Amino acid sequence: MLSPHLQTPLKIGSVILHSRVFQSPLSGVSDRAFRQLVRRYAPDSMLYTEMVHAAGLCHAHQLKKVMDVSPQDQPISIQLFDCRPDFMAEAARMAVDEGALTIDINMGCPVNKVTKKGGGSSLLRDPETARAIVRTVAAAVPVPVTVKTRIGWDDTEVNAVDFALRMQAAGAQMLTLHGRTRAQGYRGSARWEWIAKVKAALEIPVIANGDIFSAAAAARCLEQTGADGVMCSRGTLGYPFLVGEIDHFLKTGQERSPVTIADRLRCAAEHLELLWRYKGQRGIYQSRKHMSWYVKGFEGAAALRSKLTRIESLAEGQALLAAALEHFDREMAISATT
Ligand SMILES: Cc1cc2nc3c(=O)[nH]c(=O)nc-3n(C[C@H](O)[C@H](O)[C@H](O)COP(=O)(O)O)c2cc1C
Repeated sequence: MLSPHLQTPLKIGSVILHSRVFQSPLSGVSDRAFRQLVRRYAPDSMLYTEMVHAAGLCHAHQLKKVMDVSPQDQPISIQLFDCRPDFMAEAARMAVDEGALTIDINMGCPVNKVTKKGGGSSLLRDPETARAIVRTVAAAVPVPVTVKTRIGWDDTEVNAVDFALRMQAAGAQMLTLHGRTRAQGYRGSARWEWIAKVKAALEIPVIANGDIFSAAAAARCLEQTGADGVMCSRGTLGYPFLVGEIDHFLKTGQERSPVTIADRLRCAAEHLELLWRYKGQRGIYQSRKHMSWYVKGFEGAAALRSKLTRIESLAEGQALLAAALEHFDREMAISATT
């Protein structure tokens, strides 16, 4: 049974959201094209840019492109990573100018390139620097500052509750917790019990993240953790319908009608076109991984996937998807007449 408070708006400091389902920041994925599709099905949900390197942003203004936020792209949060409070504050000001409704600070990225320089999940081992980042950024911008982190560095250092309390004391207005350690990467199950412990300890909203692949999983997670909302991640790869499906379920108690294979293929075609429109040839290369996520679970998927992951042009991708769609439409027509 879902708690009635999940049907009320969510307050993040001065920001009020009419959805408790979030689309996570996904490096190499949650760009403008992807967000446009997610937003169509989840207009009230907060979406995140890919994480942006704060110092890089300050040094090279063309990196603003990474955020690439259009005026219609709201509500949006811009996620930053770095370990130097002054760069973070400067980048946060630029992000607010770009339209960020909140600034999210990445304290969970497990990638060596990021942690070796003191950013991402390595901040879990350096709470003093993490605190300084939150305080400095919160003082620099007029929008709420939020933190996304993991439950700890590894099984010997699970410090989520203490760390989260410190971030709250430093001025964070919301905390998203991925229920895995840095050492786990994306392996094993997310440990929602730690999200429950953090939720019980904090006054600011806590958003549960990890293994939210369906509306049923979201409901289970919310019930088990008492969290204020959920954030979807890998479940949205090749499936930008998920955030909207969960939002609809939380608001109405009803499941949306299932997405068909033809719907997924049409969405893949649109995603390809958007990537081409926003990024040109680079977008075509980037589309290959998206296509491999969309095209699965039906006869002939493997062969189509293999062709789509080698496309060189928009026309080539469109032709492959159109042929597959024609096949499905014909099958639907045949089954409707028999
Ligand atoms: C391809 C990919 C890119 C990611 N990029 C980011 C990122 O830029 N910032 C971030 O905070 N987390 C990032 N994550 C982590 C996810 O936001 C999320 O915390 C994690 O996948 C756990 O949720 P899940 O089990 O539902 O996938 C990324 C994950 C994946 C798979």
